[in-house]
Amino acid sequence: MKEPVRLAKRVTNLGVETAFLVAAKAAAHAAKGNKVYPFHLGDMNLPTPANIVEAAYRAMRDGKNGYTPNAGILPLREALACEINATRKTSYSPENISVQPGGKPVISKFILALMNPGDEVLYPNPGFPIYESQIRFHGGIPVPYTVIPDREHFTFDLDGLEEAVSERTRLLIINDLHNPTGAEMSAEQRHRISEIAVKHNLLVLLDEAYFDVRYTGRSASLVSEPGMVERSLILYTFSKKYAMTGWRVGAAIGPKDIIEIMNKLNVNDESCTSHSNQYAAIEALQGEQSAARQLLRILQKRRDRAVELLNTIQGVSCSLPKTTFYLYPDVSEALIQRGFSGYEDFLDTVLQHTGVALCGRPHFGACLAGESRYHLRLAYSGIDLADLEEGLTRFKSFLES
Ligand SMILES: Cc1ncc(COP(=O)(O)O)c(C=O)c1O
Repeated sequence: MKEPVRLAKRVTNLGVETAFLVAAKAAAHAAKGNKVYPFHLGDMNLPTPANIVEAAYRAMRDGKNGYTPNAGILPLREALACEINATRKTSYSPENISVQPGGKPVISKFILALMNPGDEVLYPNPGFPIYESQIRFHGGIPVPYTVIPDREHFTFDLDGLEEAVSERTRLLIINDLHNPTGAEMSAEQRHRISEIAVKHNLLVLLDEAYFDVRYTGRSASLVSEPGMVERSLILYTFSKKYAMTGWRVGAAIGPKDIIEIMNKLNVNDESCTSHSNQYAAIEALQGEQSAARQLLRILQKRRDRAVELLNTIQGVSCSLPKTTFYLYPDVSEALIQRGFSGYEDFLDTVLQHTGVALCGRPHFGACLAGESRYHLRLAYSGIDLADLEEGLTRFKSFLES
């Protein structure tokens, strides 16, 4: 009999992006001829603005087919410096920027560059599952902090965060404009976090994947607080604002000594980000913005309708996030009324009976001690308005039957 391949021990610590597990179940359901309503994946079913697509074609036609510098092409780094400085009150130059194949690689490279095995890393739970996966994979100790409901929506539990800091804490991961809840910090909270980071000499990953996915007000960054620019690495991505999830263009932005290591990791890893796509990213930043604004208007309509429909369902309550394209309704009463005792049974049954594919709170990290409410996460970025209405109507009928 053929011996099984002996894998390295470290891979047992690798997690996955759990929404993809729901995607597999949804695909199996669809393969049987059923209609699926995709609320599970934070992907987009909207086209990339035409001027950006045209810029990529142009670059390909102009022979932009070779490797680029590992840090990325200079005009893109210049354009990014301009954008970040204008929106975050910083004074970065191109040497502060390392272009990356998407936002996600910034997470692993930040951890690889700055965490030693045994270091503690504070990260949000519920949160983007890749933080915990990468901390464990590289031998760190993930220490969660959480979000709590506030008057209007959700906010970060900064008392809990501060209590969780220990002598071994080295890194702090912040995802203001938060996946999955849409929570965001107030100015006072940003200031308080900066004081905690400075006091405990923490290096901070600012995952700003949703900085520009905002429907009202203006986003602000923790990097603008005193003492933060020298200890922060910003995760920037083109994925969400410009419907470019599959193009894989993002950047790490921060102190030069960290960026040099990021570039060295690029040399060892992908060499460079797709050449022509870097030119498309310049167009995204500097070209006409009306299509990007239109994307936001479409998302806002979906958000408003989904929140309205969810709040008509008995036992469901959903607040209105100002940012991201996620909703995080509390479904505790509905779930209990229908006799479900846990998420998996509930989510599988909803999929089988209605075709609605959803993520639950545990897809964003193991539930913490004392958590008693049940939450779902709905992404409305990958489903058009008609299907969104049809899917949520089916979901309502199922829950109320
Ligand atoms: C919080 C957060 N950070 C980072 C990413 C990764 O973004 P990208 O597609 O640019 O790699 C995502 C994607 O869903 C996300 O939700």
